[in-house]
Amino acid sequence: MYQPKATKGNTDWFVQDRFGMFIHWGIYALPARHEWVKQREEMTDEQYAPYFKHFNPVNFDPDSWAEQAAAAGMKYMVITAKHHDGFCLWDTQFTEYKAPNTPWGGDLLGAVVKAFRSRGLRVGFYYSLIDWHHPDFTVDRIHPLRNQPDRAGLNQGRQMRRYREYLKNQVRELLTNFGRIDIIWYDFSYPGEAGKGRDDWDSAGLEALSRELQPGIIINNRLDLPSAADIYTPEQFQPRAWVHVDGEPVVWETCQTFSGSWGYHRDEATWKSPGQLIRMLVNTVASGGNLLMNVGPTARGELDARAEAALAVYRDWMARHSEAIYGCSASAIAPPQDCRLTQNGDFLYLHIFAYPFRHLHFDGIGERLEYAEFLHDGSEIHFSVDKKNTATLDLPVRQPDAQVPVVKLYLKS
Ligand code: GLC
Repeated sequence: MYQPKATKGNTDWFVQDRFGMFIHWGIYALPARHEWVKQREEMTDEQYAPYFKHFNPVNFDPDSWAEQAAAAGMKYMVITAKHHDGFCLWDTQFTEYKAPNTPWGGDLLGAVVKAFRSRGLRVGFYYSLIDWHHPDFTVDRIHPLRNQPDRAGLNQGRQMRRYREYLKNQVRELLTNFGRIDIIWYDFSYPGEAGKGRDDWDSAGLEALSRELQPGIIINNRLDLPSAADIYTPEQFQPRAWVHVDGEPVVWETCQTFSGSWGYHRDEATWKSPGQLIRMLVNTVASGGNLLMNVGPTARGELDARAEAALAVYRDWMARHSEAIYGCSASAIAPPQDCRLTQNGDFLYLHIFAYPFRHLHFDGIGERLEYAEFLHDGSEIHFSVDKKNTATLDLPVRQPDAQVPVVKLYLKS
């Protein structure tokens, strides 16, 4: 339908694969009340220290994460190598604030990368531009210490120039020591009064370094440098149509959570229903985008039962419907009532969000229709075409056992 703006990074595979796993994991899994806890509760380093001191994910089993991601039909993953709290999952040479120095005592990132890669998933790194631990990172309007009486004093001696070096050194490590990395997901810029943006990070330098070390790598749009953005990343809301930037369609990926938090949140109750989960995926692809669905492993290193159940919802649906997702995109054809359409060439996939009684009327499609079948079992769907070019599909009265049933329509070529 739309031809998105060309990208510097290789997005060919990305727009085919459509579905990935986001992983937010770090020592914020211990307080278990949102990955921004240090910021929200305005904690000092000292107050946040117990989580570093007690981090010991003894049940860490990245193979099980990777297996569940693959089973859910996810084709790539993006993991937080470092989040805003500054804690690093890998054995970086540039800070002591890293997994090997916790009771766990070793690298965590390499094992995750290996597990996912061995199951054929592509690998991306989320890397926080923000760092609430680094001594050179100035206290700004969102910093945990923002309301300390002596903010100006706290900033004396802090040098963003040195922090910029730190960013580069770490990015160099991440993009050198872990084999091929397909995505680098920088997060995030907030320019303006007491904020930070491209000059604070040297976004142009980070872009150049990323592309030099990993030719083809995909860079997201949060560097505050529009020319660096391969993909756009609407977060925590569902776009209703293809995402446009400056009037042009772009490659995009929406990131979403199973519940409201990215990091493990024990008491968060807003877990999405199975139907919502599937409809979000369908909606995204029907609008020409990718879905990056997040899990927040626990402090023990496991996916909790609620996350596993949510992944199983995708597993069960994708087992019989992935053809309507992979390689598909938005269709130029208008969908019938209560439905969404995804399309791959002459195959049109009709996702039925609200299952009607016996008849589904599809205007404007009649003469183009060659054949119709349910996707999950390949059973034929009879249809008739009237003079107005409306196709009426005859559906069984009982909805098939699928969160969202899909009818595959073969268009005459
Ligand atoms: C936001 C948050 C962050 C989360 C990210 C995911 O930018 O700062 O906690 O990692 O969104 O998109």
